[in-house]
Amino acid sequence: MVGGRPEEKPVKIRLRGLTKTFKHNGIQVDVLQGVDLDIFRGETLAIVGASGVGKSTLLHILGTLERPSGGEMLWEGEEVFTLDDRRLAAFRNRKVGFVFQFHHLLPEFNALENVMIPGLIAREPFAAVRQRAEAILTSVGLEHRLTHRVSTLSGGEQQRVAVARALVLDPDVLLADEPTGNLDPKSGSRLQELLLQLNRERGLTSVIVTHNMELAQALDRRVTLVDGKVVFLQGE
Ligand SMILES: Nc1ncnc2c1ncn2[C@@H]1O[C@H](COP(=O)(O)OP(=O)(O)OP(=O)(O)O)[C@@H](O)[C@H]1O
Ligand SMILES: [Mg+2]
Repeated sequence: MVGGRPEEKPVKIRLRGLTKTFKHNGIQVDVLQGVDLDIFRGETLAIVGASGVGKSTLLHILGTLERPSGGEMLWEGEEVFTLDDRRLAAFRNRKVGFVFQFHHLLPEFNALENVMIPGLIAREPFAAVRQRAEAILTSVGLEHRLTHRVSTLSGGEQQRVAVARALVLDPDVLLADEPTGNLDPKSGSRLQELLLQLNRERGLTSVIVTHNMELAQALDRRVTLVDGKVVFLQGE
C-alpha cells in the first residue's frame, strides 16, 4: 500500500459478529463464531490459521460466494447480504476477483480464452474484452503465452493466468486462497511480487489466505483465525 498506516484508510469491508454454521451428518459445526474485522481500502491483508479453522469459509463469505449464518458484512457501509441471489451475483462479478489454490482454469482453453470468459459472461463486447485480456496477461508477464493451452503451462504460469482472470473485470477487491500453495518457492516469490505490484498499481484491496509466512510478512497486516474468531497478532 502506498503511504500511511492501513488504519488511516477508509474501511472497505466491515465484519461484525459474523457466524457460519454447517450441518454435517446431523452434527452442527460452528466454524465462524463472531468474526469482527475491518478491512481498509487499498490494504493487503493476510489471513492465517490452522487447517480447518475456517479461512476459506471466511474468504467465500467475503466474496459473497456463501452467505453467513449470522452477523453483518458491510461494504462501504452497506449491508451486502440483503441482496437477493441475482443481485448478489451481479455485485460479486463487478466487485470481486477470486484466485483459488487450484486455479480452476479450463485446461483445454488457451490463456487468452480463460481470461476472456468472465468478460464474455458479463456480456461485454468481444473486441473490448479481448483487448483487456491481452493487456492484463501482458502485465502478468504472459504476453508470449496468449494462445497456449492452459494444460501446457507451468504451475506458476497457470496461477498468473488465474490472477489475470480475476482482474479482467477490474474488481475493487482481490481475494486469494492459498495462491502460492502449489508453487515452488521461486514461482511463489514471483506470484507474491505480482500481487503486491497489482495492489500498488490498481489500488486493489487484497485479502490473501496463506500458510506461506514469507507472503504473509510481505503484506500490510496479518490476522489469525483461532476458534472461529479473528485474533490480531501482537505488534500489528
Ligand atoms: N460446505 C460445507 N459443508 C460442511 N462443512 C463444511 C463446508 N465447508 C467447510 N466446512 C467445514 O468447515 C471447517 C472449516 O473449513 P475451511 O475450508 O474454511 O477451513 P480452512 O481454514 O480453509 O482449512 P485449510 O487451511 O485446510 O484450507 C471444516 O471443518 C470443514 O469441514
Ligand atoms: Mg482453505
